[in-house]
Amino acid sequence: MSKTRKNNKKGALVMAKTNHYLTSVSNRTEFLKKVEKNVINRYHSVFPKQIIIETTGFSNMKCIHCGHKTMKRKKGNMDINLYKKIIDEIALKAPETEVWLTLYGEALLLRYKLYYMIKYAREKGLKYLILNTNGMLLDDEMINLILESGLDRFIFSLDGFTRETYNSIRVHGDKDTVYGNVLNLIAEKNEKGLEKPYIEVQYSVMDENEDELKDFIDYWSKHDVFIKIREKFTWCSTVEANNLDKNQERIACP
Ligand SMILES: C[S@@+](CC[C@H](N)C(=O)[O-])C[C@H]1O[C@@H](n2cnc3c(N)ncnc32)[C@H](O)[C@@H]1O
Ligand code: SF4
Repeated sequence: MSKTRKNNKKGALVMAKTNHYLTSVSNRTEFLKKVEKNVINRYHSVFPKQIIIETTGFSNMKCIHCGHKTMKRKKGNMDINLYKKIIDEIALKAPETEVWLTLYGEALLLRYKLYYMIKYAREKGLKYLILNTNGMLLDDEMINLILESGLDRFIFSLDGFTRETYNSIRVHGDKDTVYGNVLNLIAEKNEKGLEKPYIEVQYSVMDENEDELKDFIDYWSKHDVFIKIREKFTWCSTVEANNLDKNQERIACP
C-alpha cells in the first residue's frame, strides 16, 4: 500500500470517530468553535492586539490639551448591541486582546451601562480590560460597581499636583475631588482584599505642569498605585511639543 493510501485510511478512521462524536448538537457546536478558533489562530493571527472602543463621545471636562472640545463629528453613546457584537467577536477570535473602553470621551458618564459593558466583556472571557478616566464621577457607588465589574487596569488622568495647576489644565475638574476619589478607591479595594483592578495615576507632562512632576511622584509613591508619566507630545497637533520629531507619523492613542 502506498504511503498516501495508508494516510487516507488513517484519516478515514479519524473522520469516523469524529462523525460519531459529532452526532450530538452541542458537541458539534463545540467542535466547530474549536475548528474556527484553530483556523483563526493559524491563519489570521493578525487580529489586533489592542482595540479601543469609544463607548461614549461625551465628556464632562474641557481639558486644555485635549481635542475633544473641538471635535466635529457627532457625539453619542455606543449602542449596546453594537458593543456586544464587537465583544462577542473579540471573545471568539482573540480574547487575549487588550480592550480599552474609552477614546475621546469620559466613560464614567455611562455609569450603570459602563458597569454592564465591563461585566459583559469579562463574562464573555475577555482577558484584559482597561479604562482611563478623569475620575470626577467616581463616587462610592461607582467605586463598588467598578470593583465588582472585572476591570483589570484603571488609569486616572491627573496632570497636575497643586489644585491651581490641576484645575487650570483639567477645566471643570477639581483636584481635591479627584485625588480624594482615587484614595477612596484604593481604600475600598484594599478593604475588599482585591488584586485588581491595578490602579494607575497618569501625568501627562506639559509646560504648565512640569514643575510639579516631582511632587506628584513623591506623593503617589506612598500609595498603592502605579505611576505613569507621559512625556510631552502633541496629539493631533492640539499642543506644541518641541521634543518631537515632526517628520515622524503619529496617531492618537489614549
Ligand atoms: C482623551 S482622554 C479619554 C479618557 C478620559 N476622559 C481621561 O481624561 O482620561 C485619554 C487620555 O488622553 C490624554 N490626552 C488628551 N489630549 C491629549 C493630547 N493632546 N496630548 C496628549 N495626551 C492627551 C488625556 O490627558 C487622557 O489621559
Ligand atoms: S482628556 Fe478626557 S476629560 Fe479631558 S476633555 Fe479629553 S476626554 Fe474629556
